[in-house]
Amino acid sequence: MRKPLIAGNWKLFKTIGEAVDMLNELKSLVSNNKEVEIVVAPVFTALSSVSAATAGSNIRLSAQDCYWEEEGAFTGEVSPKLLKDAGCSHVIIGHSERRQYFGETDLTVNKKTKAAIAAGLNAIVCVGESLAERESEQTFSVIETQIHGGLAGLSEKMFAQVIVAYEPVWAIGTGKTASEDQAQEVHIFIRQLLARLFGKSVADAVRILYGGSVKPENVKGLMGQPDIDGALVGGASLKADSFAAITNFKG
Ligand code: PGA
Repeated sequence: MRKPLIAGNWKLFKTIGEAVDMLNELKSLVSNNKEVEIVVAPVFTALSSVSAATAGSNIRLSAQDCYWEEEGAFTGEVSPKLLKDAGCSHVIIGHSERRQYFGETDLTVNKKTKAAIAAGLNAIVCVGESLAERESEQTFSVIETQIHGGLAGLSEKMFAQVIVAYEPVWAIGTGKTASEDQAQEVHIFIRQLLARLFGKSVADAVRILYGGSVKPENVKGLMGQPDIDGALVGGASLKADSFAAITNFKG
């Protein structure tokens, strides 16, 4: 059985104080939720303070990116080892905003994913097609290329630390969610692709999250799909009550 995972990607929002306040509020709202793995991803500067606030709670901590080297002359970068040191258990890799604005490629996604796993982090690896790609019927080929490149060379054992997030770029921050059927269609495609590339046991065990305008109103329907194992939530994760409602989708 794949345990549902709901992750909140706070992107470039919240001061340290705001992030800690939100965490404290969230903690009490989700404390009874044992069925869902709950993760929040604040900005780098808030990680260690938020980590301290998660102590004794069922909320786990993620970073939004990492570098692939452990240390060295790499000004401005943060390594997986330092994310562990700051209290992270997870790291988001290859988010479409990083691909779009910061030159992230499948090759850098692959290096980061391997480095994150080696450091003992769980990598949330994001894939997804743009609107133009969907409209020109390239969705499946784009996803295939991203999965192929981003996860190249991973062993079955390494997959225990991998979570895939399918985030259609046209649905991120737009209020336009993929329909349940549209999302499920890509999720099953990804699972079958993983089976082909890495074997059936990997494909059966890997959690595939959906991301793109997930809200309390649509989470239940999405989570009802057989191959949707969780959600990566942006906008609706910024307020404790809406994020708690999403994580408590089972009611
Ligand atoms: P959104 O963002 O929920 O605001 O659409 C999702 C994401 O970028 O992970």
